[in-house]
Amino acid sequence: MREPRRAEPPAAGPDRGLHVAIVMDGNGRWAQRRGLPRVAGHVAGARAARRVIDAASDLGVGVLTLFAFSSDNWRRPRGEVARILALLRRFLRTEARACVRAGTRLEVIGRRDRLPATLRTQVERAEAATATGAGLRLRIAVDYSGRDAILAAAARLPAEGAATREGFARCLAPGLAVPDVDLFLRPGGERRLSDFLLWESAYAELVFVDRLWPDVTRDDLAAALADFRARDRRFGGLPAPAARA
Ligand code: IPE
Ligand code: IPE
Ligand code: MG
Repeated sequence: MREPRRAEPPAAGPDRGLHVAIVMDGNGRWAQRRGLPRVAGHVAGARAARRVIDAASDLGVGVLTLFAFSSDNWRRPRGEVARILALLRRFLRTEARACVRAGTRLEVIGRRDRLPATLRTQVERAEAATATGAGLRLRIAVDYSGRDAILAAAARLPAEGAATREGFARCLAPGLAVPDVDLFLRPGGERRLSDFLLWESAYAELVFVDRLWPDVTRDDLAAALADFRARDRRFGGLPAPAARA
């Protein structure tokens, strides 16, 4: 049985408020290595998402953006796509309840017009049910493309006025403002961005985990955050001691 989630606010800690983005990759290989159909990997991937969302909440992460289905994933066989979308609908239904209990605010980013109507309805319900959550901000990317998001933002830019980075960021996230990605985490063994959060990750620290997504644990997230904390983020400036010299 799943452990009940704690409703108290996340502990104040060094990771409080960070934006962590994760490409949830490796589900298919996880299943294939076990002689199972790829969809079994997606089911296991949903369980990993549950674990990692809890861990992020406990560790005080501010924003967690999970890549669940990319706009390029429509290229996969129809059967696999249908199973993934059905799983997502089920995931959002149970996750919305868990989020309400935990005080997590759930949002779905990406295109909605190509999603099955039942999934769209579930997205709207999950967002409405969790809209007042003041803890972790959980964003799930579905039919998402970083390049398409930039194109859509560019179309909104004239209404914003001057073309500034801040104005463009507002066009990219017309609702609640989204901070830049601090930690970009990719399990699964690949070392690429795959069109995820391109603008927002301009200065993200990249951490690659060789484990496949269904095997990722809360300890992996904690280790990635420890790795992140050891990095020297310079944003084009000088290393901290030299800057003081
Ligand atoms: C990630 O796992 C899930 C989606 C892209 C929907 P994959 O299905 O890409 O798994 P691999 O990379 O083939 O192992
Ligand atoms: C990225 O994984 C998309 C998601 C995890 C949802 P892919 O498996 O689609 O990426 P590529 O094809 O290896 O770049
Ligand atoms: Mg993959």
